[in-house]
Amino acid sequence: MKKILPVAALCSIFFIGCGGAQEPAAEAPAEGGAANELVSGYDLANGKEIYEANCASCHAEGVLSSPKTGDASAWSARIEQGMDTLIKKSIEGYVAEGSMPARGGNDALTDDEVANSVAYMVDESVAK
Ligand code: HEC
Repeated sequence: MKKILPVAALCSIFFIGCGGAQEPAAEAPAEGGAANELVSGYDLANGKEIYEANCASCHAEGVLSSPKTGDASAWSARIEQGMDTLIKKSIEGYVAEGSMPARGGNDALTDDEVANSVAYMVDESVAK
């Protein structure tokens, strides 16, 4: 009987060790998914269309001090504000270093269309 105990103890140590060793592997996909989680629920295909027609004129090349789409360093602090803030500022427009026109200058865009185009830009610009 006495020999069984150490074996049981070793087993549980092994299992704990094993569970711990698996954690980093499990975290990697979760981190990759975090960026996409940010924009889950938005219509990125619609966002791309709206972006190309209304936002790319400035954001594709970073015209007028706009954050360039795909430039993770220009976007990381902005993305930290959260999607709601980014979308609100895009709908209302705001002036900081440069001037971001309300709805990218196209009043015909709906709130959802602006939100989708913001989501598309964030998805393109998040550090990967
Ligand atoms: C006339 C040029 C122009 C157009 C067109 C334009 N933007 Fe911008 N945008 C800017 C500038 C300039 C800034 C940066 C303002 C600053 O922070 O100094 C900006 C900033 C932003 C930001 C970052 C907001 C923040 O809080 O940091 C988002 C998001 C954004 N624009 C979304 C859009 C979307 C979506 C469209 C199209 C519907 C669009 N922009 C069209 C010029 C433009």
